[in-house]
Amino acid sequence: MTSSVNRETIATESQPLSKFDLASYLVERQAQVEAALDRSIAVIYPEKIYDAMRYSLMAGGKRLRPILCLATCELMGEAIDLAMPTGCALEMIHTMSLIHDDLPAMDNDDYRRGKLTNHKVYGDDIAILAGDGLLAYAFEFIATQTRNVPADRVVQVIARIGRAVGAAGLVGGQVVDLESEGNPDVTLDTLNFIHRHKTGALLEVCVLSGAILAGASDTDIQRLSIYAQNIGLAFQIIDDVLDITATQEQLGKTAGKDLQAQKATYPSFWGVEESKRQASQLIVAAKAELDPYGDAAHPLRAIADFIIARKH
Ligand code: FPP
Ligand code: MG
Repeated sequence: MTSSVNRETIATESQPLSKFDLASYLVERQAQVEAALDRSIAVIYPEKIYDAMRYSLMAGGKRLRPILCLATCELMGEAIDLAMPTGCALEMIHTMSLIHDDLPAMDNDDYRRGKLTNHKVYGDDIAILAGDGLLAYAFEFIATQTRNVPADRVVQVIARIGRAVGAAGLVGGQVVDLESEGNPDVTLDTLNFIHRHKTGALLEVCVLSGAILAGASDTDIQRLSIYAQNIGLAFQIIDDVLDITATQEQLGKTAGKDLQAQKATYPSFWGVEESKRQASQLIVAAKAELDPYGDAAHPLRAIADFIIARKH
């Protein structure tokens, strides 16, 4: 699996592994998420569409989004089972957004997670429908599979996810991203808008939904929002840096695409070194929000460190 974690990529100066073994934690959570995703979709008639949905959903990946959702549920003192259906749904939505993003009408990419993209295998028509199928199923899955959570919390999570992925979130960010391609006058404000919406909104709702399902207070939600917004932006800055510095083998997708597509990126404003410095500052600010939670927040601190230490 191209995107699985290893010890080398997660050891950082600020969070030595001796304090909290993030590698073991992520390996365990990844396995739990993989198993739950595998169980989530059966192949029935018409097999082609379920195959296409499963092809991208089961193609590996860090599973960072569901793991964040499970981690905040745990932080609030509840068992991860409460949040597993929502975690799976968030991965389904993330996957569908990438299937559509890779289409010839958008980024026209041939590789994702080290494999041919969905439309390269199944054709554009089925890839569009596989994305639609995953999006609709994600919401059905939360509503039908969540157990032992009061209904008002489930409704709140569904509403927040709907907002985060629609025109007020992912879709809006993608529109501005497409509009900005090839435009040399894109401002830093526009770049921030794109990433807060295209990547940040989903990461934020991943962090918040686990906490909401577990009964988080308004203060918890406020703190976790700031944590999520900061790691979301840092994640994107590092993504932009890796597009320049990493190889196709490391990334599992085409490298150097941003430059080729004349996309505005953080390194294009700040250069690579300053971009890394800005990302580190955001991670420090994110972790500061976790201070009141003590040792219980070790996973979220370590995940924040992992976001800037990652090589793919
Ligand atoms: C990858 O960005 C793409 C996204 C993070 C989201 C794209 C969003 C859509 C296609 C809208 C999907 C619709 C719904 C309803 C959620 P990138 O191209 O910068 O990164 P990449 O190099 O990994 O492709
Ligand atoms: Mg793309």
